[in-house]
Amino acid sequence: MLAVLPDHLRAEAARRLAGAEPVLRERLAGLYGERADFLPWLGDLMENIGRLHAARPAALRRQDLRRAAQADWFLSQRMLGYCAYVQCFGGTLDGVGRRIGHLRELGVSYLHLLPFLRPRAGENDGGFAVANFDEVDPALGSNADLEALTARLRGAGISLCSDFILNHVADDHAWARGARAGDPAMRAMFHVFPDRTLPDRYERTLGQVFPQAAPGNFSYVEELGGWVWTTFYPYQWDLNYANPAVFAAMAATMLRLANRGIDVFRLDSTAFLWKREGSDCMNQPEAHALLQALRAVVAIAAPGVLLKAEAIVPTRELPAYFGSAAAPECHIAYHSSLMAAGWAALAEQDTELLRRVVAATPALPPAASWLSYVRCHDDIGWNVLRAEAGAGDHAPGEPGADGADGGQAGGAAARLARVARFFSGADGSYAAGAAFQSSDPRAAHGSNGMAASLAGLETAPDDAARAAARRRLLLLHGLALSFGALPVLFMGDELAQRNDYGYSARPQHAMDSRWLQRPQFDQQRWAARHDGGGEAGQVYAALRRLVRLRQSRPELAAGAPLALLPSVDPAVLALARGERFLALLNFSAVPHTLDLPGRWTCLQDDRAMAGGATLEPYGMLWLARDDDAIST
Ligand code: GLC
Repeated sequence: MLAVLPDHLRAEAARRLAGAEPVLRERLAGLYGERADFLPWLGDLMENIGRLHAARPAALRRQDLRRAAQADWFLSQRMLGYCAYVQCFGGTLDGVGRRIGHLRELGVSYLHLLPFLRPRAGENDGGFAVANFDEVDPALGSNADLEALTARLRGAGISLCSDFILNHVADDHAWARGARAGDPAMRAMFHVFPDRTLPDRYERTLGQVFPQAAPGNFSYVEELGGWVWTTFYPYQWDLNYANPAVFAAMAATMLRLANRGIDVFRLDSTAFLWKREGSDCMNQPEAHALLQALRAVVAIAAPGVLLKAEAIVPTRELPAYFGSAAAPECHIAYHSSLMAAGWAALAEQDTELLRRVVAATPALPPAASWLSYVRCHDDIGWNVLRAEAGAGDHAPGEPGADGADGGQAGGAAARLARVARFFSGADGSYAAGAAFQSSDPRAAHGSNGMAASLAGLETAPDDAARAAARRRLLLLHGLALSFGALPVLFMGDELAQRNDYGYSARPQHAMDSRWLQRPQFDQQRWAARHDGGGEAGQVYAALRRLVRLRQSRPELAAGAPLALLPSVDPAVLALARGERFLALLNFSAVPHTLDLPGRWTCLQDDRAMAGGATLEPYGMLWLARDDDAIST
């Protein structure tokens, strides 16, 4: 690797190599070491990494050095994320550039643009079926536009996060086309089975991601004369990471994208990378080894770049995605349990699940962060909460106690199914959402809908109900912003945008209700954002205030200490950050008054408080201790 570098890069690269190469070599040897050609393969891989490092633009190499000098740069309380589809937010990449003012006004320093690389022709799962990783979707711009945007964002202090869809490619990707045409090397990039023998054996223990729209995990492809592994839609072919050529090609693909200026890779569907018969083929040790190897590649060739795990898995499986001090994995991971538990707390008017999730959330190593959020482009998946929802209801080993039953039996599943029903608007609930991929009322899968609609803004009959719905929306955002994490807002939520029902008229989207929460950016609401009399303006102002407060309180940084305090009522969450900050969040429809010894300031309105605090229904207080520190 060092031999292909120009002289001026060699010393620094040698230092990085010394740090990261042992883990890289060990993990790759563990995965592929028994192959006769392992060493020459590794040599080629390292040489290619060297070439890609040499091609890294100088501005990015300078940024690498700055970030290496401050490895925890993304843990700051000043970090705020925003997530959007390019076509919904700006029309094109260039149009996104014209929204930088908007992002800065909100305080955003991290922008996650959902897939923007050339997708499959036709249906493409919102761009998650990539036909070509080296080409921007022509409908959204060009590679030059991407490089121009990353440079503009960098100039504005905003990091760009891009999806890196490494579990699968589209069925019209060059590898899939090659496999169809009979090229054995291309066929070997996938898991292809000549008949149903092995697929049937795997299916015994596999779950289903889209049980209605795409049942089963294998798709028959005529030209292959066999069944190809397709965890998601039939046109998304899972890659076979047991083949070292897949790892080498995907690692290089990632570095080429990094060299275009992408700062953060959202590693899509990371849990599914390795298949093992008899298991659910999620969270396998080899998947972690692959991620540790990718992290080492980044640490050598593009060390300013962050990896973010999208692993929507039970809370207990999440910490492993950070790896260890000796073998780090991802820098950031979605805290999907926290997100789902926040919504469940609203439905149940009880914070028990939320408290269990917080209790099960370990402190992280330095320079690592959770990602907190209220909504994203996907459904709220309830099954990640099966362990927490079953705790207390079940004896160990009983179905439902730990999710081993597949989630559809036992008290935990029934409890989560009630939550899902609530968000589909059943039984007079205020929520206007849709159950995702499930018509069975006893099953819990996911719920769709924009946050404002799920919180009740769409159905609210009067001003009082609208105010309560706004408070629910802010409550969940307050949790995401005060929990120690990198908070990411979802496009439109800052303006209380509602569901987009138009999707059902679009044939390519109609079967996937996740499109409810993928509306076009509402220009009118945006224009009215400073109108304090309107819904968008009220939410926007309150959210911006929380963001600004957060920016001013170092104890709200991602890595800073967090403690749950005992609370007077199960509906109230009392979250202490450091010694002087307390968030009180009321998840119920009734007000609560709490004793509050000492002197406090309510940060939202600068009010001095002594002796006690009253929380409105669904109300939230961010309090700063004025005298002695909080005793936990
Ligand atoms: C991730 C994405 C989701 C997509 C799936 C398959 O979970 O967030 O939108 O459908 O991966 O790529």
